[in-house]
Amino acid sequence: MIVLGIETSCDETAAAVVVREGEANGRILSNVVRSQLAEHRPYGGVVPEIAARAHVECLDTIIEAALAEAGVGLTDLSGIAATAGPGLNGGLVVGLVTAKTLALAADKPFLAVNHLEAHALTVGLTDGRAPPYLMLLVSGGHTQTLLVEGVGRYRRIGTTIDDAIGEAFDKTAKLLGLGYPGGPEVERWALSGNAARIPLPRPMVGRAEPHFSLAGLKTALRQRAEAAAPLSAQDVSDLCAAFEAAVCDIVVDRLDRAMELSEAAFVSGAPRWLAVAGGVAANRSIAAALARLAATRGFRLSVPPPHLCTDNGAMIAWAGAERLARGLVDGLDFAARPRWPLDPEAPAAIGAGVKA
Ligand code: KG4
Ligand code: ZN
Repeated sequence: MIVLGIETSCDETAAAVVVREGEANGRILSNVVRSQLAEHRPYGGVVPEIAARAHVECLDTIIEAALAEAGVGLTDLSGIAATAGPGLNGGLVVGLVTAKTLALAADKPFLAVNHLEAHALTVGLTDGRAPPYLMLLVSGGHTQTLLVEGVGRYRRIGTTIDDAIGEAFDKTAKLLGLGYPGGPEVERWALSGNAARIPLPRPMVGRAEPHFSLAGLKTALRQRAEAAAPLSAQDVSDLCAAFEAAVCDIVVDRLDRAMELSEAAFVSGAPRWLAVAGGVAANRSIAAALARLAATRGFRLSVPPPHLCTDNGAMIAWAGAERLARGLVDGLDFAARPRWPLDPEAPAAIGAGVKA
């Protein structure tokens, strides 16, 4: 089963070809990603209109490159998958229209993929990992803990009630006059900082409901920065270190709660797995804190390589293949879903509505 996957939900234009050889058994034949970082950098964040135009300009070339690199033509494909949501509407429409047109022209099944599902299933492709497993998704747009019970069966445990963690890193960097994207900048400055010098709050930590909140931390950091202005380089480093330390504590505590709540999903005695995805997972302090928590809690970790943790077409192709294998094909009238929770049963987190 050979599937082409197209990803245009945010600021990466991506296409990939993946072959599915069996349950949790796949191979990437090509994976072409064009990041729009340069276009968005002057604005310190993703500008939706610029993103949509950039997708239009290069998606056809990216798809051609992915097919060529894989050594396949449209006729060799078993299906064509594209991200249908959640994400920025303009970009989603570009990917969907392209995928549907190709599917119609080549008379192939079309698969509308949920971007979160694609992140959640990636460990099947990279590590041969089959459900059930617990999933932590931490990116610029999403912050969630999920229980993956099977393909198409997801239980959302925790979500952010305000900002995503990556977004909080980006806003912190912007506030401190550092570059975009903010995560790697904050991490670099934090290396020479003293976190203990600046006490910051850890919103939601210790609470029974398993959600995340970053807004109070961001506000506290802004107040600290304003009080200390003009900032020396050491001040910036200390603020970054304090922010990173607070995020580590928040992630560990919230994930610990998710582990408690997902206890019943695992067969006792069998290995319990935690899968991690999203750009924030690249942060070394956060990754180390996660590894410590997993070891303490008796979880094994599955972390895809960085280029498959961040947005890419291979995860869309793989999720499409997993769906196709189960006969879950979509009609050409499938509309973009800028909001598309993976778990439709999950109650909205109080104060949410934005990222839930
Ligand atoms: O998964 P991703 O590439 O794109 C989506 O948002 O879908 O994640 C990008 C996010 C950005 O907010 C970026 O600042 C954050 O991941 N990030 C990091 C690090 N590298 C990237 N955050 C903290 N530390 C890092 N080293
Ligand atoms: Zn993503």
